[in-house]
Amino acid sequence: MTPTRIVAAAFALSALASIGLIVVYVLGGQPQAEGILLATALGAMGGGIVLWAIRLLDAPTIAKDRPSLASSEEERAQTAGAAELEQITRRTLLVRMLLGAGAAITAALAIPVLSLGPQPGRELFRTPWRAGARLVTDDGLPLRPADLALGSVRTVFPEGAIGSADAVTLLIKVRPSELQLDGDRAGWAPEGCVGYSKICTHAGCPVGLYRAEDHVLLCPCHQSTFDVLRGAVPTFGPAARPLPQLPMEIDDEGYLVAAGDFPEPVGPSFWNLTHEGNREAGE
Ligand code: FES
Repeated sequence: MTPTRIVAAAFALSALASIGLIVVYVLGGQPQAEGILLATALGAMGGGIVLWAIRLLDAPTIAKDRPSLASSEEERAQTAGAAELEQITRRTLLVRMLLGAGAAITAALAIPVLSLGPQPGRELFRTPWRAGARLVTDDGLPLRPADLALGSVRTVFPEGAIGSADAVTLLIKVRPSELQLDGDRAGWAPEGCVGYSKICTHAGCPVGLYRAEDHVLLCPCHQSTFDVLRGAVPTFGPAARPLPQLPMEIDDEGYLVAAGDFPEPVGPSFWNLTHEGNREAGE
């Protein structure tokens, strides 16, 4: 096989592997197959370019003594025209093959961009909590302050959004006189019922443990602790900000309801530790 054909075959193999990569991805993906196809596409492309450079672009000149084989004027004119034609055809073919293989690889490498999915927009800054939404257990049971024993804790959700991952809240009952909440927050804990997001502000684990004797919530992942009486400020561990407090009130029928959404996003502090633009987006 001539060098030209080998180079063309390498570019064709690269293009086929890239197309195969796209097909495998669209059909659901298979990491091993995708890896092999990507390696084949890039390897064949690289090999083709190297071979093209070595064998076709920089061919060494070899001369040896030989008897005069002079051709006639007519023969020389014909040969020159044919050689030029072949040169142009070969170069054009290889350039087209190279461009085709390059386009196929570019398309294959661009496909994973689709995996990024839609932008979350402002969804990360909101939860299903709304003013007037009753606090219900995972059985859908609405709660009155009297349903909670002093020192007890319940996991609650907004009515109509049971199981919501970002709305999950810990409802804790303490003596109202023990609470040390600042500003408006003091009015968010009717009859000593205070609600905090259950999602740890360090890395998002559920804050699942409540130590009633010293009013501390503990995250089992990295041992962050939060002071329930002082707005769930972190008192130990890697968490850097308090658990968001749910504003609450009591409705006409005596049930605990939300007075609005959490005042700041729940979970890890992605939103105020990156750059100023993100901070503004959350306001
Ligand atoms: S996720 Fe809670 S302390 Fe790390």
